[in-house]
Amino acid sequence: RRFTVAVVGATGAVGETMLAILAERQFPVGKIIALASERSAGGDVEFAGRKIEVQDLAGFDPTGVDIALFSAGGGVSKEYAPKFAAAGAVVIDNSSAFRYDDDVPLVVSEVNPEAAKHRPRGIIANPNCSTMQMLVALAPLHREYGIERINVATYQSVSGAGRSALEELGRQTGALLNFQDADPQRFPVQIAFNLIPHIDDFQDNGYTKEEMKLVWETRKILGDDSIQVNPTAVRVPVFFGHSEAVAIETKKKVTPEAARELLERSPGVEVVDERRAGGYPTPVTHASGNDAVYVGRIREDFSHPRGLNLWIVSDNIRKGAALNAVQVAELVAQEG
Ligand code: A2P
Repeated sequence: RRFTVAVVGATGAVGETMLAILAERQFPVGKIIALASERSAGGDVEFAGRKIEVQDLAGFDPTGVDIALFSAGGGVSKEYAPKFAAAGAVVIDNSSAFRYDDDVPLVVSEVNPEAAKHRPRGIIANPNCSTMQMLVALAPLHREYGIERINVATYQSVSGAGRSALEELGRQTGALLNFQDADPQRFPVQIAFNLIPHIDDFQDNGYTKEEMKLVWETRKILGDDSIQVNPTAVRVPVFFGHSEAVAIETKKKVTPEAARELLERSPGVEVVDERRAGGYPTPVTHASGNDAVYVGRIREDFSHPRGLNLWIVSDNIRKGAALNAVQVAELVAQEG
């Protein structure tokens, strides 16, 4: 069977990668539909080596769409995802609009694929990029050793904030090297040659929403509300690939050797952990443009009797967004 697939936000950083990955993995596409705002309607995007015309989402009739991949922001998802679902499509939504609703499954394809089957609203949510890569690596450890607490600091690339953010890092870098002003627009302060400990809105508890996503989504995906997560989310001047310094505390002690051995046979994970210069994953050398979640710097947390430290790196646009959405679409397609 072949499917009619719509990509909503097809001109964006995630949307164009969704199209590329659908083609790359030879998803059984009968018809592909690219949707965006009226700003880019009439232009074109690439799918499997050919150009397809972008249509205006607002004027589009979703009748006949089997699977819709949404990545055009929460507002667009809130308004249009229910309309696509009502017309019979399965919606896989990359925004945070539905992630915390009890009747919307939140799925990491390697971690809780079975959850995708129960979708009373016809909507499946794709987790936040930071949670995604963290759980591909931590879920196997949780199953074997029981994670009680996660301390995590993220180092998140600008691509997570979309195409305009990629442009801003490039523009500021050029400007500053030419002794001109950074002139921040997309980010609250200069991002080139800087770090910003602020992603998404501040919450009443002093954390940012990006940080709270790591708490809420970890518990929902692992199905365990007792897991404690202590997050700090930071934007860094990297184009593609998020990194995370993660310290876990487990019920049963896990040695670095046992963790390495377990992660080496876990789906979606690649261990890069040699104790020499360059023997660890970085966004540029490993993650960018690739599918795996790379784990290195595995070592005992010598400040805690059952603590382990890890360094987790992945391409936020691929596994963190577009790839997982396509993998979830594959799960739906396999249902027949
Ligand atoms: P457009 O190119 O027409 O603005 P990014 O996260 O990289 O900035 O991409 C956001 C994506 O979401 C783009 O494809 C953008 O399309 C799309 N988008 C933004 N707002 C809307 C909207 N109101 N209706 C449809 N698509 C939208």
